[in-house]
Amino acid sequence: MSDDELQSVAMVGGTGPLGRGLAGRLAVAGITVWLGSRDGARAEAVARATSEMLPASAAAIVGTENQRAIQQASLTVIAIPYDALAAQLSALTGLDGGRVVVSTAVPMAFDKGVPTAVRPEAGSAAQLVQAICPDARVVGALHTVAAGQLLRFDDVLDEDVLVCGDDPAACDVVRALVARIPGLRPVAAGGLAVAGACEGITPLLLRLNRLHRAQTGIRITGL
Ligand SMILES: NC(=O)c1ccc[n+]([C@@H]2O[C@H](COP(=O)([O-])OP(=O)(O)OC[C@H]3O[C@@H](n4cnc5c(N)ncnc54)[C@H](OP(=O)(O)O)[C@@H]3O)[C@@H](O)[C@H]2O)c1
Repeated sequence: MSDDELQSVAMVGGTGPLGRGLAGRLAVAGITVWLGSRDGARAEAVARATSEMLPASAAAIVGTENQRAIQQASLTVIAIPYDALAAQLSALTGLDGGRVVVSTAVPMAFDKGVPTAVRPEAGSAAQLVQAICPDARVVGALHTVAAGQLLRFDDVLDEDVLVCGDDPAACDVVRALVARIPGLRPVAAGGLAVAGACEGITPLLLRLNRLHRAQTGIRITGL
């Protein structure tokens, strides 16, 4: 892995809470973020507002359309809802040629307000992304990190991040990316076949949050 691979990141759907939170944390870590949206003007406004919350030493967050964001960085984080993946990713080009694509999506339904895991036909959201982008190197990660806490940029993070994918070198890159955010410890979890299990933890954490009025994350012991 070269340092160049971690100099900049494209954030597709960067205007949502997860995209904004990750963008801010990565910018503080010195990584330029190309924050994408379907609407370039919205992206510019969100990028500006997010940058204003960060110290002056943070790297740039540049708002632009999703397609241009992908063109500007070698690594792409997909931060759009699971239900939107098929339509949105099929409409974008450049998620090929061995590009590292990080799938953060958590397929989830709410039954009377209670979050429940949904298992997609593809097995997981990450496997769906891989099916739509067969020439990308898809890695599942960051499913269990709460956007609300990421966005409180002064909050100290202290949790693990499961990273799964079929391409070991791509997983190395994503683990290195996660490790750039202070307080997040990347943990290799296996191939994309375990992505469904990783994604399924999040609805459980959301239930725990309600039960304990807390902001939960995960910590793998024994490593
Ligand atoms: N929120 C969390 O705490 C959290 C934690 C872990 C993982 N995740 C996962 O991360 C992803 C992003 O989460 P989020 O809460 O930030 O999501 P979100 O706010 O619902 O959506 C993020 C962005 O995706 C774009 N988008 C929304 N609907 C779309 C559609 N139908 N087609 C295309 N683009 C659409 C929007 O950007 P534009 O309108 O600007 O294009 C939106 O700002 C989700 O897959 C979620 O499961 C979230």
